[in-house]
Amino acid sequence: MNILVIGSGGREHAIIDKLSESELTGIMYCAPGNAGTGIAATNVDLNISDHAELIRFAKEKNIGLTIVGPEQPLTDGIADSFNEAGILIFGPVKAAAEIESSKAFSKDLMRKYSIPTADYRIFTDHQSADSYVLSVDHPVVVKASGLAAGKGAVICSSVSESRSVLKEMMLDKCFGEAGETVVVEEYLKGEEASVFAVCDGKNFKILAPAQDHKAAYDADRGPNTGGMGAYAPAPVVDPGMMERIAKDIIAPTVDAMRAEGREFKGVLFTGLMITSSGPKVIEYNCRFGDPETQVILPLLDADLADILFKAAGEGFPESGVLPVKNMHCLSLVLASGGYPGSYRKGLVITGIEDAVSSDADTKIIHAGTAVRDGSLVSSGGRVLNVVSLAYDLKQAKEKSYRAAGKIHFDGKYCRSDIGDKGIKYYG
Ligand code: AMP
Ligand code: GLY
Repeated sequence: MNILVIGSGGREHAIIDKLSESELTGIMYCAPGNAGTGIAATNVDLNISDHAELIRFAKEKNIGLTIVGPEQPLTDGIADSFNEAGILIFGPVKAAAEIESSKAFSKDLMRKYSIPTADYRIFTDHQSADSYVLSVDHPVVVKASGLAAGKGAVICSSVSESRSVLKEMMLDKCFGEAGETVVVEEYLKGEEASVFAVCDGKNFKILAPAQDHKAAYDADRGPNTGGMGAYAPAPVVDPGMMERIAKDIIAPTVDAMRAEGREFKGVLFTGLMITSSGPKVIEYNCRFGDPETQVILPLLDADLADILFKAAGEGFPESGVLPVKNMHCLSLVLASGGYPGSYRKGLVITGIEDAVSSDADTKIIHAGTAVRDGSLVSSGGRVLNVVSLAYDLKQAKEKSYRAAGKIHFDGKYCRSDIGDKGIKYYG
């Protein structure tokens, strides 16, 4: 089966890397891809917002399965277009992708179906939002309802902060249309975890729980990023907690979407807060996480091509948990100096071969990379993921940091504490 992967980040390279283990996989293409996806797959320079161009390509190359990485094409209805053309695609249709693209929709869905989440109010009118925050205890979290590249949620510890964030989002339109509707919600205390379920619309299969590190600097300080590293499994989600999450959150969400006529086929990614009163949904995403995918797929002890093909097509006979290797996986992001603000591109990257030469369980998964004049160069904020598998988390961390030390590009930076929250559980 020939496969087309849409996207260009670490997530897409990790998906291609895992697919290459499958006997079902034929020729792989990635649109548009990065220097890493170009190793096992053929990168194709297609405009991913042009559905007709993608469909033409899929027909021409006899693509048996298309897998969508990022949220934007799903929000734009790429799955609807492929369905109409009768080409198999893994990813939710536009109406189902709204679970990520509209926080107002997802919060109301959770309320209607009693799925645990933070209390909230939705506002489309600035004046009402402004007077509401004057009357509530702080901290609160102010969120743009639409897609804002992971930057749309602000924890506000005072009334004056909430008021200024509401002004920026609703009046100054710092996120454009995405901030015309805002959610003001209760601040939840606890530890965060990401849980992923591959859904066929009715049944689902759960992957290893992971933990992301969203803040740019150590100890979760600094601005939010797309994610500076991840590890799995996350011990805060032990098997008992996972059962509870499946029963109280994943199953009712999949059922709710079906009941609403928005059957969810694809990866349901729940960002959770594990609070003292149980797991609560912080947000839903309609796709694999980045950088979480880089750690959950190496741990998957099953055929990814087969799982995604079934989810997109005939479906699963029942829900359950996918087999996970009895190991730990950690991914450390090497970022460009300045990220998540402005940064330089086109910087030459050296040392990758040396970094992976001494350990078969360490891999480099590319994110913002490209090949220019025969050299590997940086082309994005998050440049590389150094991914290691080991029998304990501490060892996985050591392997990734050792390898990362051998990779060089101007301005390279990374956090030094990826995985520490997990390591402390093991004493
Ligand atoms: P979101 O874009 O909704 O995933 O939020 C981004 C980040 O803000 C989350 O990963 C949390 O760290 C934090 N956050 C969002 N909502 C809440 C909440 N209700 N309580 C505490 N922290 C939150
Ligand atoms: N790692 C968070 C995300 O993919 O949105």
